[in-house]
Amino acid sequence: MRVDHDAQARNRAGERATAAAATAVAHPNIALIKYWGKRDERLVLPRTGSLSMTLDIFPTTTRVRLDPTAENDTVTLDGVPVTGQALHRVTAFLDLVRRRAGSSRRAVVDTENTVPTGAGLASSASGFAALAVAAATAYGLDLDATALSRLARRGSGSASRSLFGGFAQWHPGPSTAGAAEADLGSYAEPVPVGDLEPALVLAVVDAGPKAMSSRVAMRHTVDTSPLYEAWARSSEDDLAEMRAALRRGDLHGVGELAERNALGMHATMLAARPAVRYLAPATVTVLDAVLRLRQQGVAAYATMDAGPNVKVLCHRADAERVAGAVRGAAPEAATHIAGPGPGARLLGREER
Ligand code: DP6
Repeated sequence: MRVDHDAQARNRAGERATAAAATAVAHPNIALIKYWGKRDERLVLPRTGSLSMTLDIFPTTTRVRLDPTAENDTVTLDGVPVTGQALHRVTAFLDLVRRRAGSSRRAVVDTENTVPTGAGLASSASGFAALAVAAATAYGLDLDATALSRLARRGSGSASRSLFGGFAQWHPGPSTAGAAEADLGSYAEPVPVGDLEPALVLAVVDAGPKAMSSRVAMRHTVDTSPLYEAWARSSEDDLAEMRAALRRGDLHGVGELAERNALGMHATMLAARPAVRYLAPATVTVLDAVLRLRQQGVAAYATMDAGPNVKVLCHRADAERVAGAVRGAAPEAATHIAGPGPGARLLGREER
């Protein structure tokens, strides 16, 4: 890969190209065709392709500063030190970047999250997308957007899609190929979209951390759910149809596909042994409100991730009405209206 050769050459020259620090921003994305299940845990290769909309709210900003004297990486999230499994995930990701850059320097990583962490609102997607851009820059890797998407994938699968603004599709990569080829083939890229003015109304019925991480839950689902293979097969068809509906600018088609794909994913979890159930009573209340909106002629369709919160896809012009209907039905729900947002980007680099 071009990038690694460049980095190796620079490293032979004494790591001159590394920055003292780099800061990047990324936004969360919500999958309309879900990623649920890996075929390779280490490389984070998914079983199926997925497709998402990047949001224009809740950005994550991450600064990576190389510290030549430190023996360990230190990570803070909103000023609070990160420890345990979460720290290990960041360190493992930085190890990957360091291996590619031929560097052994530790880093100080400071992240400001504006999305409620762990609430099923994809904080790991914006988090690892921002970290990939900031860390690659700080360690002197010159990666294009595709390579950054592959890199972000290693931190969290859904992060591969937050590299891009608007709608993005994450390719699973060739399933019969060896590891290196499969790794190269698994990245996200922007999806062409017709005349569509979409909004996602986020109905947060519970902003607390989720009971089971999506990583653990998807592994358990693949291992034990008799419905998993059927969903994975139908998800490939949903993806092809979703691309066509987006190209046509057909919000009804997009919404129907998104809703059935998400409900199917939750069905696979409910059939896991023991069951994984993220949907709460308030989730079902919001789903009923969405159905009523449709009966009133409003194009509104629901999707849910690894948590009880509902994201309602609708026309931008209907977003306030949809949010009001959701709050009317579930007064405990906080609503946020998001449109399509930008891809991850570097905010700045500080030289030594
Ligand atoms: C339900 O990307 O958080 O939001 O790759 O294990 O970090 P890991 O999982 P993650 O899973 C996201 C699952 C989902 C659906 C989606 O975003 O496609």
